[in-house]
Amino acid sequence: MAEAPVEPGLAPLLAAACRAHGAAFGGAAVVLAAWAPGRVNLIGEHTDYNGGFVLPMALQLGTVLVGSPTQDGTISILTTSAEADEPHRVQFPAPRQGSPLSPGQPRWANYIKGVIQHYRGGPVPGFNAVIASDIPLGGGLSSSAALEVATYTFLQQLCPDDGDLVAKALACQKAEHTFASMPCGIMDQFISVMGKEGHALLIDCRSLDTVLVPLTDASLAVLITNSNVRHTLTGSEYPTRRRQCEEAAATLGKGSLRDATMAELEVARSRLGEEVYRRARHVVGEIARTAQAAKALQDRDYRTFGRLMVESHNSLSSACRGVLRKASQASVPGGAGMRQPITDDYEVSCPELDELVAAALEVNGVYGSRMTGGGFGGCTVTLLEAGAAERAQHYIQEKYSGTATFYLTKPASGAKVLPL
Ligand code: GLA
Repeated sequence: MAEAPVEPGLAPLLAAACRAHGAAFGGAAVVLAAWAPGRVNLIGEHTDYNGGFVLPMALQLGTVLVGSPTQDGTISILTTSAEADEPHRVQFPAPRQGSPLSPGQPRWANYIKGVIQHYRGGPVPGFNAVIASDIPLGGGLSSSAALEVATYTFLQQLCPDDGDLVAKALACQKAEHTFASMPCGIMDQFISVMGKEGHALLIDCRSLDTVLVPLTDASLAVLITNSNVRHTLTGSEYPTRRRQCEEAAATLGKGSLRDATMAELEVARSRLGEEVYRRARHVVGEIARTAQAAKALQDRDYRTFGRLMVESHNSLSSACRGVLRKASQASVPGGAGMRQPITDDYEVSCPELDELVAAALEVNGVYGSRMTGGGFGGCTVTLLEAGAAERAQHYIQEKYSGTATFYLTKPASGAKVLPL
């Protein structure tokens, strides 16, 4: 696995994890260490499970897993980053033929158990490990995928598999499906494995072919804004959206919405029913927008990219919110393409995300802004002139009714083994 330049937060994270390992496991030395990044998706939302395009980049924020093998067939894990109401330590026997692992409490351990269960180089022997992360939990920056991929990368040192990276991402996705009951697409695990420093990655989620899109222009910045809210709807709404998309594809006689056109949707509108029609219209539109956006980024046409981001947000937004509607009618100083028709097709945003996007778009030097990830809280992503980044953070914070947290990040590399 290739070594990449060290991410700013990684050395202190690794040191903290090693100290915690010594304290938790009777002074045992760390002999294995792995890191995997979170991600931000620039555009292409809710398209991955429809075989469409996504354009994420790996973050400099990530999750570290350090540990040491044991001889007693027991797996003991300590996390330094779990929700306060959950135990931070878990212990269970390594899976054996006929006695597979199953999900349970604490919830954070399910991501690890799932990866151990679906690991392709098993059977996994006993080990001690400590997890440390600087990805905000539940913030929509894929803290779960980073934990899965860091675990898998750790296991690759403990008992090597064949090194197939696509199979690695798929095994981590399977872990999330079966142990966290989240029917996610492939985007998060894939970018956490495959990210390349200085690049966003256009992923065709049908073929799993990829195109690296350079993102090294020093005059450009990617600003992530965490709304610090998470609405509990997420658990039920994501599977519902996914089911509606599958229903739409089946009604159209297609394998997935990737194969559908707007014209076909129009013809089938009454058969689909209004809600399913609107869900499908988001997906078909978003797949096309993502392909166009990747081209615009390659051409350094940031205005077009920004306009597509805003169209994406509007399509994902929730009906009757009013915030963007007002913003789109006002004379906006930033002028970042707010005059788009608002379609509200997918309804996975929330007032807080809409507020953050509207505020960002009022800042001069902002090309575009949108919610990122599954929705119902979490983060927005804003593309802007590097020189406007400071100003944007102040302005957004001033306008936002809650408390925002900001991250200015460059595209990082995917998971790696850490030298000790
Ligand atoms: C979550 C899922 C991804 C993807 C996004 C929405 O992050 O894990 O697979 O579907 O939502 O684009």
